Amino acid sequence: MSDHTLIEVKNLKSPKGTFLLGHLPQFNTYNKHQVLERWVDECGELFKIHFVGKEFVVSANPDFNNKMLRLRPEGFKRFSKIDEILKEMGVDGVFNAEGATWKRQRKPTAEALSVKNIKAFYPVILDKTKVILEKFKNYAQQKTIVDVQKEFMAFTIDITTEIAFGHKLDTINNKSNSFQKHLEVIFPMINTRVTAPIPIWRYFKREKDKILDASLKAIEKVIYEFIDDAKKRIAENPKLREQPSNFLEALLVENEDVNFTDKEIYGNVFTILLAGEDTTSNSLSWAMYYLAQHPEIVAKVRAEAKDIYTEDTPNMYEHIDQLKYANAVAQEAMRLKPTTPQLYLESNEDVIIDNLFIPKGTSIILQNKVAQTDEAYFSNPDSFVPERWMVNGCPMHKNHVPNVMRAFGGGARYCPGMHLAKTEMIILISTLCKHFDFKLEVKPEQIREQFEFTMYPENLKVAFIPVN
Ligand code: HEM
Repeated sequence: MSDHTLIEVKNLKSPKGTFLLGHLPQFNTYNKHQVLERWVDECGELFKIHFVGKEFVVSANPDFNNKMLRLRPEGFKRFSKIDEILKEMGVDGVFNAEGATWKRQRKPTAEALSVKNIKAFYPVILDKTKVILEKFKNYAQQKTIVDVQKEFMAFTIDITTEIAFGHKLDTINNKSNSFQKHLEVIFPMINTRVTAPIPIWRYFKREKDKILDASLKAIEKVIYEFIDDAKKRIAENPKLREQPSNFLEALLVENEDVNFTDKEIYGNVFTILLAGEDTTSNSLSWAMYYLAQHPEIVAKVRAEAKDIYTEDTPNMYEHIDQLKYANAVAQEAMRLKPTTPQLYLESNEDVIIDNLFIPKGTSIILQNKVAQTDEAYFSNPDSFVPERWMVNGCPMHKNHVPNVMRAFGGGARYCPGMHLAKTEMIILISTLCKHFDFKLEVKPEQIREQFEFTMYPENLKVAFIPVN
């Protein structure tokens, strides 16, 4: 948009849709992110769609999207339907909070997940890495084909619950398998309900609604166990009032400025559980999807691991920073397969970005994945090349614009769990490559992107082959 004439939303292009339902049938019957990608091909980086009369602006322009993300929290909030659906499920925490409530909740969340805290909790991450390594060694010995997505999810659940709530779980060894099963139900239902034209479940419970209700009940029980245990710890150890040792204790300890209600505490525990597990385990699964197809990259990760630590695992937090190539693998997997390919926002006020006039209350979908795989920003955009993230880069890769990466969002509401997620990814990628070669047990083309609020590789089955 080069001249200065204001453009109104009604003047934007629109893909072909139906008269009454608009673009909803196409959006709801397929992977939402891929439908958006197709529409970007058809209409360009900025266009509008409508769902039963409700209009949405869609932007795949990284500069435009960054501007919107940076105008939060004042200019934009999360799409209000997401808040409505999450609240209805009891997920009422920092992800969907707005205004003063968001500010109050963001502070303890960001503190709990700060670099300093993750460093202090590194022994927990290391311990869980050792536990899952033993499990994979057994799988390798027994030649078991591994559903890595499930295994990585158990890894992230155990780490998040111990770091954020001070509660030890052993989901990795299936000791709380049903908890994982219940958590797995939530994201697909959020995805379905956010774009449902009619909230049928409020009038009539279908089988899937009943399953969701049962899972929500089971999760509620577990979360209250976390809360009761933390309350007991605080009662037994009054020092924790001054210096809470984790996120949950910090929320529970009343202080003069901030007094969290029981509902807020419950909602935030639920939020951290949801935000911390699928996202990280999906990203790890996508990294595995590429590693299993690139033995030469596995060999490089292994060489780096051998260079930096002699033990089975990187036993010191400082190792994480040194594992540059493992980090590049994680980064490249998130570039090609961001687990959150799009974000949904709504304008709080009239805003002009570039020369588009966005009236208050406009719903906007930020399709961030398109730019991450665009030749204009990354040369050979569809190739998995971790080298492009190394300091010296790769001479084959002229275009390299890291700022278009929005895997963790942006602006004041960027993901506070980023450092924890990256640490989990680097330690596990490095450890697994040190010990195993990987073989895809299905053809790559049979592994599909599946979007259910987060994007994961469907049908990813991997064999682990031990190396010396
Ligand atoms: C690879 C893993 C992860 C990815 C790709 C990811 C991605 C994201 C994205 C895209 C957002 C929205 C940001 C925005 O609106 O600008 C977000 C928000 C959030 N994430 Fe993550 N995340 C990951 C891991 C985690 C972990 C491990 C935790 C905590 C244990 C976490 C906690 C949160 C929370 C609390 C928010 C809401 C922040 C707010 O609204 O202020 N995430 N994440």
